[in-house]
Amino acid sequence: MNITSDFLVIGTGIAGLSYALKVADQGTVALVTKREIDVTATNLAQGGIAAVTSTTDSFESHAEDTMAAGAYLSHPDIVNMVVSAGPKAINDLIEWGAKFSRREDNSEEYDLTREGGHSHRRILHAKDATGKEIERALVDAVKAHKNIQIYEQHIAVDLITEAKLRKQLMQPNRCLGAYILDKKTNQIITFGAGVTVLATGGAGKVYLYTCNPDIATGDGVAIAWRAGAAVANMEFMQFHPTTLYHPHAKSFLISEAVRGEGAILRRRDGHPFMPDYHHLRDLAPRDIVARAIDNEMKKHGDDCVFLDITHKSADYIRDRFPMIYQTCLEYGIDITTESIPVVPAAHYLCGGIQVNSSGETCIEHLFAIGEVASTGLHGANRLASNSLLEGVVFAERAASKSLEYLTDEPRTFPSIDPWDSSGVTKSNEDVVVSHNWDEIRRTMWNYVGIVRSDKRLRWAMSRIHLIQEEIDDYYWNFHITSDLVELRNIATVAELIIQSAQMRAESRGLHYTLDHPKRDDRKFRHDTVIPGATLKFEQ
Ligand code: SIN
Repeated sequence: MNITSDFLVIGTGIAGLSYALKVADQGTVALVTKREIDVTATNLAQGGIAAVTSTTDSFESHAEDTMAAGAYLSHPDIVNMVVSAGPKAINDLIEWGAKFSRREDNSEEYDLTREGGHSHRRILHAKDATGKEIERALVDAVKAHKNIQIYEQHIAVDLITEAKLRKQLMQPNRCLGAYILDKKTNQIITFGAGVTVLATGGAGKVYLYTCNPDIATGDGVAIAWRAGAAVANMEFMQFHPTTLYHPHAKSFLISEAVRGEGAILRRRDGHPFMPDYHHLRDLAPRDIVARAIDNEMKKHGDDCVFLDITHKSADYIRDRFPMIYQTCLEYGIDITTESIPVVPAAHYLCGGIQVNSSGETCIEHLFAIGEVASTGLHGANRLASNSLLEGVVFAERAASKSLEYLTDEPRTFPSIDPWDSSGVTKSNEDVVVSHNWDEIRRTMWNYVGIVRSDKRLRWAMSRIHLIQEEIDDYYWNFHITSDLVELRNIATVAELIIQSAQMRAESRGLHYTLDHPKRDDRKFRHDTVIPGATLKFEQ
């Protein structure tokens, strides 16, 4: 089966949905998502969206906080561009229907909260469920647009490029769409498009413990890299310092905004340890807080540390953090009277597909926006609440650039060979998927986590290579399933993370290694770039 559209957008978080809305008046959009439309990381974002909206704040200050959090690896031109586009991005969201919390009911002024690394209160939020409110508004808007066709339960398998079709290396190469598996019928559909946009989000599922949704398997990074796109800064996986530690909680995030409003991290014995690590104490940048927690847990043999906001009034806590309060209560923890047990977990991929300031990859007609992209904004560590902002700003820039690629009516699309599934059979060895899934995630957590070393990275790489051999063997012989696609993707992303970590023989931001504990600006103040995979063609 063949589906064609002017724009193929893969992913339905803030970036994909904003992009679709920006281009839909000019052309047809196929909007593809591998689960339901609102199963996204955006939907789980609690804290908020950072932007300069107060007269006491400034773009310079937001830019400096972003640079400092990113350990001065962020690109200053991109940082300045994104922070100064902040107010317009907020306006767009409000026009699409998002409602942010105000200081008091009926007040004109938005309530601005704080998170780690910010020197001002500049984060707009919708109580403690900001992403849910944004996702709701954007989903309503895309559903109402006649030019946007939504395909739920469809997972991208591979990109279609001119080089692949012609079976020859081409420079530049050009993207023509993607092969996409319809999970309900198990058919692989050819989606042809004038412009293809990857907005598939992050890769937290590469790690054993993550607060990401199950969809975060690095699909966009893996398929773009396989098609020949360069990736950058993959070593910078951000670990969120505070996810709920409870045997039945599936990695529930406790927003940094809780610390922004005064909560204190304590050891089991009650000692508030953050002043021992950084002058900003509990509001130090995330990499520092996560490493401090990891260190305290290891030093004292504890399973978790504790986040204490009990000094605030119960009414305030219930009103400001209704979702966190309610969820913790369901697990038997009343946060108005007791501290919350917390541990770090994989949260945000700061690197990704390398793009320019319009979200273009090195493959023509292929864009990447949102968490899947490495834009130059986050550097070695993302400043809290900058990601939703980046999603909207780059959606707008990618949209205006990609409109230039629209050809005149009537639009024509090259003919594309269907996916070849001849010679494959149904698998009777599903254990390959479940075993390797688990082994990759455990290996990454233990050897490529918050604290790394040369030896751990070497061990991790040799395991991932063995696993990849098994996956490859399996992949080409059996019918493709969604689980298999995701397994292949997390293996690819794991390899790219380890390879990048090995290329950075220093410690900076989120990449901390025992063998090179110092930052080395002379040798390493640049992005870690891995060129796209070398394409191989059967003769
Ligand atoms: C949080 O609420 O702590 C997450 C916000 C973010 O990651 O930007």
